[in-house]
Amino acid sequence: MAEATIWSVGGYAPPHIITNTMLSEKMDTSDEWIRTRTGIRERRTGGPDETTATVSVEAGRAALEARGVSAEDLDWVFVCTDTPEMWSPATACFVQDMLGAKRASAIDLTGGCAGFLQTLQMLSPLAQSGKKLLVIGTELLTHAMNWSDRATAVLFGDGSGAFLMGPSDAGFDGIRVGHGLSRSDGSQTGILGKPYGGTRFPITPELVAQGQLHTIRMEGQKVFKHAVTMMSDIGRRVLEEAHLGLAQIDWVVPHQANQRIIDAVAHQVGIASDRVFSHVAHYANTGSASIGLALADMLEQSLIAPGQHLLSVAFGAGFSWASQLFYVDAVPPSKFLHAGSPA
Ligand code: ACO
Repeated sequence: MAEATIWSVGGYAPPHIITNTMLSEKMDTSDEWIRTRTGIRERRTGGPDETTATVSVEAGRAALEARGVSAEDLDWVFVCTDTPEMWSPATACFVQDMLGAKRASAIDLTGGCAGFLQTLQMLSPLAQSGKKLLVIGTELLTHAMNWSDRATAVLFGDGSGAFLMGPSDAGFDGIRVGHGLSRSDGSQTGILGKPYGGTRFPITPELVAQGQLHTIRMEGQKVFKHAVTMMSDIGRRVLEEAHLGLAQIDWVVPHQANQRIIDAVAHQVGIASDRVFSHVAHYANTGSASIGLALADMLEQSLIAPGQHLLSVAFGAGFSWASQLFYVDAVPPSKFLHAGSPA
């Protein structure tokens, strides 16, 4: 039976850079505080004409061009995001039109920082069955920040990562999507999210006057504790169920939340830090875009080689968390569009 395979990878990091020093000029923070607590040095932000759809198109088109597949050949376009173009219609519909994916069905999925891995797990059977999918994770999280809340505003950035996927028997080798698991605990919805502006709390002038904005709110220490525990636990469980040892894992590709979380997960899982990919210093936490962007960067840096096994782990709002194994049959073509030097 065919297996779901990543045929190519696209990444897009918007060209505008916000450094820690720039943030310290508009809020009570410092480069030193941000670097020591999070490892983040800078983050990207979309320009005034960039929206979730246009940024998604950049990464999606990069993946298609890298493999030389036409958008007209796509069966599905998925956009995974917590910062959509509009409430409705789905961002994926804008992307489908802009790309010219005339035959494709288009839909969004929202799952916080674990959403991209959850999405891959859900739609892999479609790729196995012979469909051609463009799976894009995108966030413009700088649009969802409360710039007077220094505890969250310094953590996030914008970007997009895209996988062109299909079956393993269609003539394109790449990265096979292996065993994966995901879980949610909806009793924790109050700890991290963007609660205002939806149907439970429609945004009103009164709420805005009380400082209840449609921006991200977070209890940082609780998120930290749960993120480390859940990502370590589910990563170990996936390895056990796939009968793989840590020695057989060449790279852990974690959700790029912050360096302290990444280091703590590596420590708990028991894997050396030089086998854990991180570029959080340069791109910060890009939510649903994080794993795709990380893979695009790893491919650009030639860190991926045939025969490697990758273990990805992610955690985010919900809470939801996920882990996914990837097997590199061949290095897929990729295109990472970014200004400046990667980490
Ligand atoms: N600059 C300067 N001081 C700050 C800042 C800032 N940007 N933010 C908070 N502080 C202050 C606080 O006000 C507090 O001051 P006080 O002691 O006078 O009250 C002090 O720093 C310590 O605050 P804490 O919240 O205890 O700091 P902590 O060590 O927990 O670090 C952080 C905060 C970095 C947010 C940490 O809790 C964390 O990493 N949490 C995980 C958050 C995360 O990554 N979320 C992303 C979404 S989920 C995911 O992707 C996994």
